[in-house]
Amino acid sequence: MNSNKPLAIFIMGVSGVGKSTIGRLLSDQLSIPFFDGDDYHPEVNKQKMANGDPLNDNDRHDWLLNLNKLANEQTAHNSCIIACSALKESYRELLKVGIEVNVKWVLLHGSFDQVHQRIQQRKDHFMPVSLLQSQFDTIEDPVDALKINIRETPQKITTLIVNQLQKKSEFGLIGLGVMGKSLARNLASNNFKLSMFNRHVPKKEENIALQFSNEFTELSEAKPFDDLQAFVNSLQTPRKIMLMVNAGKPVDAVIENLIPLLSKGDVIIDGGNSHYKKTQARIDALESHDIYFIGAGVSGGEEGALKGPSIMPGGNQNAYKLVQPFLETIAAKNKDNDPCCTYIGNGGSGHFIKMVHNGIEYVEMQLLAEVYFILKSMGKNPDEIANILESWSTEANSYLLEITINILRKKEGNGWLIDAILDKSGNKGTGNWTTIATAELGIPSTLIPASLFARYLSAFKEERLQVYKTYAEQNSKFDIDISALLKGYQLARIVNHHQGFRLLSQASVSYNWNLNLSKIASIWTNGCIIRSTLIEELIDILKNDDIILLSDAIIPRVKLMKNSLNTVVSQCILGEIPIPCFSEAVNFLNGYKESYTSANLIQAQRDYFGAHTFQRVDDASGKFYHVNWES
Ligand code: 6PG
Repeated sequence: MNSNKPLAIFIMGVSGVGKSTIGRLLSDQLSIPFFDGDDYHPEVNKQKMANGDPLNDNDRHDWLLNLNKLANEQTAHNSCIIACSALKESYRELLKVGIEVNVKWVLLHGSFDQVHQRIQQRKDHFMPVSLLQSQFDTIEDPVDALKINIRETPQKITTLIVNQLQKKSEFGLIGLGVMGKSLARNLASNNFKLSMFNRHVPKKEENIALQFSNEFTELSEAKPFDDLQAFVNSLQTPRKIMLMVNAGKPVDAVIENLIPLLSKGDVIIDGGNSHYKKTQARIDALESHDIYFIGAGVSGGEEGALKGPSIMPGGNQNAYKLVQPFLETIAAKNKDNDPCCTYIGNGGSGHFIKMVHNGIEYVEMQLLAEVYFILKSMGKNPDEIANILESWSTEANSYLLEITINILRKKEGNGWLIDAILDKSGNKGTGNWTTIATAELGIPSTLIPASLFARYLSAFKEERLQVYKTYAEQNSKFDIDISALLKGYQLARIVNHHQGFRLLSQASVSYNWNLNLSKIASIWTNGCIIRSTLIEELIDILKNDDIILLSDAIIPRVKLMKNSLNTVVSQCILGEIPIPCFSEAVNFLNGYKESYTSANLIQAQRDYFGAHTFQRVDDASGKFYHVNWES
């Protein structure tokens, strides 16, 4: 069969719809073997049916395992066709174990009367007519099947199946920017039949998809389009279309153009950095068109997208099942070889998780920038700083540490490239969103705003130069104990991850997402920007504790490293070295570990000027009091 990978085509439907007839015709046409599932029933099942007793789930279990084994054996080297009623979703789950990416369902369906009439004309079939009703009662509509009405002729049905499976693509991708291109290559390398679309903008974006498909051998069978209707028509139904376009208006524009072209049950996946509230709104809007929308965070940059990103999909769980084989195949794999992609939860949860990933990313980047600046202030050159960071790799390894070492070693002429880069940092908005989200949910994830505002402050270059001229003093030689710096860095990272996951656990409660924090840590161990040995450790820690700073594994480390962090921060402050995230980590810890803070005074002040009331430490009922402060 002319397909990128061997397929297990299950022809399904109630008894009497003509599964075997179609299976055989298809087998002749595609020159692949046909197996009649009925032949794989244990004798006792056949006997039971012949006696007019319907089979129960238990009876079917071994039969389904037999068919799954058969499909696995066949697809190891060739495509095959299997006729099997596969009435329930749970049966189909069993049938596809190990062949999730190979399986194709074809549902033959008709009315009870149509099928009843046919079955009465049959000779030598062990299924008595009386069982037909029980099959109609049992069948659960498959979401991911090519559905064909049996009123068509067998030849027509066969042609429809061949057209769909051979000529149409399994997956569509819209938007061939950097990330879209890498994901397209990743999908094609994993043998998925792919259609790619890029818009046509005269003189700016012309024949992008076609040119791209000619650039890489793995794309030789991928279909390029710049006509949206033709692109949509090229896809197997229900269609799975991933958008890799810029977040914001472009996503809405593409959705608007797609809606009239799509059918009930199709799935759109937004793989960009969209805002989670927008994603929720798009899910709701598309629901009225019976179209599913999955908001999937994708992390890992260009290389991750190509070789395996971390993917965070959220939305309707049934819709996720339709796209699961694609997303989980192209995702990075963790240490246990499980995909760094899992269903996150409903609504905008996937994009929320990705947003918090980026918030944590901002802090991790800023902490490294602060370490770099401290070491630079000690007079060390980029190579020396890189060497120090490299010596930290055994204890504090992370992708961001690795790339920072490489960045610092990059030479330009006799110097280093890093020294030629203007100190104004940009951003695309996700740190801003996380800051707003943490404030909205009332969670003090204070390092994220600190890292965001450090970027904003850097952007005021000209103003900073004026302030520099006004206030800068000749600093005396700055020095710091490097092993204390490492400890301080590690503790600040723990605080960062504590705050990020605390934000996730609150969002889970507030939005009813039922997030599995340990699983989220696990899909962040590879493919994404914040992968690190610390995240790997968090998989187990988060199984028992949502609050990282209270976990038994972390407590001794915090106790061991706290003094170092305090020393680093106090020395930097005295040396007037900007360290917003290091110092915020200290302030957060100091506030968090205080049993009786200064908030009593805040409450008194609020009550004084605004009669906002306060609670008393000596009244456990929680009653609110107001006092006339001036009487
Ligand atoms: C990732 C990155 C990616 C991108 C962000 C960062 O996980 O692959 O987070 O999404 O780099 O856009 O954006 P800014 O730093 O520009 O805000």
